[in-house]
Amino acid sequence: IPVNIYSDLKQGSRSVAREIADLIRSKQAKWEKCILGLATGSTPKSLYAELVRLHKDEGLSFKNVITFNLDEYYPIEKDALQSYNRFMHVHLFDHVDIDPANIHIPDGEASKENIKAHCLRYEQLIEDAGGIDLQILGIGNNGHIGFNEPGSSIYSRTRLVTLDNSTRIANAYEFANISQVPRLAITMGISTILKAKRIVLMAWGPGKAPVVQKSVEGHVDEQIPASLLQQHNDCTFVLDEMAAAELT
Ligand code: F6R
Repeated sequence: IPVNIYSDLKQGSRSVAREIADLIRSKQAKWEKCILGLATGSTPKSLYAELVRLHKDEGLSFKNVITFNLDEYYPIEKDALQSYNRFMHVHLFDHVDIDPANIHIPDGEASKENIKAHCLRYEQLIEDAGGIDLQILGIGNNGHIGFNEPGSSIYSRTRLVTLDNSTRIANAYEFANISQVPRLAITMGISTILKAKRIVLMAWGPGKAPVVQKSVEGHVDEQIPASLLQQHNDCTFVLDEMAAAELT
C-alpha cells in the first residue's frame, strides 16, 4: 500500500482535500457527478474543515457531488448529538452547496424489520450512482474500517453489525458514558469499500502507529480489516509522522 507521510495532520488533510477538490472539478468539467464515500470520527474533521474553506474561499461547488457515508450507529435518532448524520451536517453538509437529495447515510432510525431491505437498497443506490469514485477511510485501533470489526469477511456488504467492546470504549467520549454507546451499527461492508475506484485512508497520531504498521506491512488478514486494503489497486494511506512511526 503506498503511504504518503506529512509533518502533521493539517498538511495531510490539506493534500486529501486538494485531491477531492481536483476530482470534483474534473467531473464538473465533464458534466459528471462525483461520488464520494465519507467517514466520520475525529480523523476527517480537519479534512472537512478544509473542504468548507475551499468552498468559501475558492468557490469549490458540491452541486455535482453525491455522498455515501460508511456507517451509522444503530439505533440512533438522526438528530441525536452523537449521530453520524448530525456529525456530517455539522462538519460539512451545512456549510457547502450540496443538494440534500444527494446525501446518503445509513438510517439509524430504520425499523428492525426494515434493516435488511434498507442495507440492500443502500448497496443498490451506490451501484445506481455508478459506484464510489473516492472512498475516505479512518482506521480503528483494532484495524476496523467503517464498522467492519476484526473477523469481517472480505465479501461483506452493507449490514447490521455488533460493535467490538474496544470500539465502544474508544467512542465513549462522544457519549455521557459507555452504557450510552449503541451496541450495534449499520456499516458498508468490506466488499462495498473495496469496490470504490480509489481509496484514501487517513490516520493521525501515535495511537494508530501499531495498527497502521500491521495493515501496511503485515499479512492480509481478516483479523486486521484494514490489511484487506492491500487487495485494492488504488489505495493510499495518508499519515502524519507519528502514525507512520512504526513502518520499517
Ligand atoms: C467512522 C468510521 C470508523 C473510524 C475509526 C477511527 O465513520 O468508519 O472506522 O474511521 O473508528 O475513528 P477516529 O477517527 O475517531 O479515530
